[in-house]
Amino acid sequence: MGRAKKVVLAYSGGVDTSVCIPYLKNEWGVEEVITLAADLGQGDELEPIRQKALDSGASISLVEDVQTEFITNYAFPAIQANALYENRYPLSTALARPLIAKLLVQAAEKYGADAVAHGCTGKGNDQVRFDVAIAALNPNIKVLAPAREWAMSREETIAYGERCGIPSPVKKSSPYSVDLNLLGRSVEAGPLEDPYYEPTEEVYALTKSIQDTPNEPEYVEIGFDRGIPVTVDGRAFDPVQLFVHLNKRVGNHGIGRVDMIENRLVGIKSREIYETPALIMLIHAHRDLESLTLAKDVTVYKRGIEETYGQMVYNGLWYSPLREALDAFVSKTQERVSGTVRVKLFKGNATIVGRKSANSLYAEDLATYGAGDNFDHKAAEGFIYVWGLPTRVWSQMTRG
Ligand code: ARG
Repeated sequence: MGRAKKVVLAYSGGVDTSVCIPYLKNEWGVEEVITLAADLGQGDELEPIRQKALDSGASISLVEDVQTEFITNYAFPAIQANALYENRYPLSTALARPLIAKLLVQAAEKYGADAVAHGCTGKGNDQVRFDVAIAALNPNIKVLAPAREWAMSREETIAYGERCGIPSPVKKSSPYSVDLNLLGRSVEAGPLEDPYYEPTEEVYALTKSIQDTPNEPEYVEIGFDRGIPVTVDGRAFDPVQLFVHLNKRVGNHGIGRVDMIENRLVGIKSREIYETPALIMLIHAHRDLESLTLAKDVTVYKRGIEETYGQMVYNGLWYSPLREALDAFVSKTQERVSGTVRVKLFKGNATIVGRKSANSLYAEDLATYGAGDNFDHKAAEGFIYVWGLPTRVWSQMTRG
């Protein structure tokens, strides 16, 4: 008896997931492997990938374009939440996992599979995200992770594939592990494993080196509707095109690089390079618009929510009652977050230089230092007396 009869495998077309197909059948007694490749805007040609799965032994090879869903249902809520892990990583890889998990579960239910599978190893966060998301969506489906158990080196994996008729990769294999989608690019491993090693320019693909960026600043105006970016320079963009357009334009100025040591959920510190030009710029612009449109106490309270939100996405708890509850809070706050943010792109910086909104809470007659000041200066004195009273009493009592 095998571990499962019919399996839906998350498929990328790479060596590991290709080898998973014969491995599941030969080593684990799976009778039928259906592959599923998700198009998240990684720019791969999908027809060769679809065919490669069949050539590697899949009975059915599914390819699903979920780019719009990815941006609308995963990226936009994260932007509304200003979600960053450890204050820096905008979760470009992490946000894709719950969507892929959902596709796997849906396909398993449709084709009557008793298990789903992925090619993650046992050291990363992605295995946790897949396994937990799948369990949340359908606790009766088994999850198989061959690469977590097979203990083959890269060379052995390629050799195993060759014995099963899978051609070895044509390109000279890069020392880096790369994950790419519409939200950005993550790069780790190889020489980057030394945290003191400076990444060479070949590590980057979506952002220009500062040496090569334009010597003139460029301005871009982002229009938000209830916390969702909908226009660029006054022109409406659909969710996918917005990211395609902004990644190019913002990346051209060398904006969106992050080089960080992060704390993985499995307890390991790891070094990762991120390129997320559009996403990081949109989060900064969005947060700025919130500073104009949200009440002070809402902003302060929301900051705590944002921290938790980022951790939940990173830690694989997208499909969870807490994340849903946080989303309800965030959605309520976003009712006011409409307006325009003007951003200056120049030499690696996206600087917010202006913001406006019909919901602005900024009252110029209160803020001004010029004529037309309506703030009651005399009222400040009584306020300060009451505000400072506990401090005054504390001082008197403790200093004698
Ligand atoms: N560290 C990131 C995360 O956990 C990215 C993981 C994938 N990175 C990669 N280079 N394959 O979300």
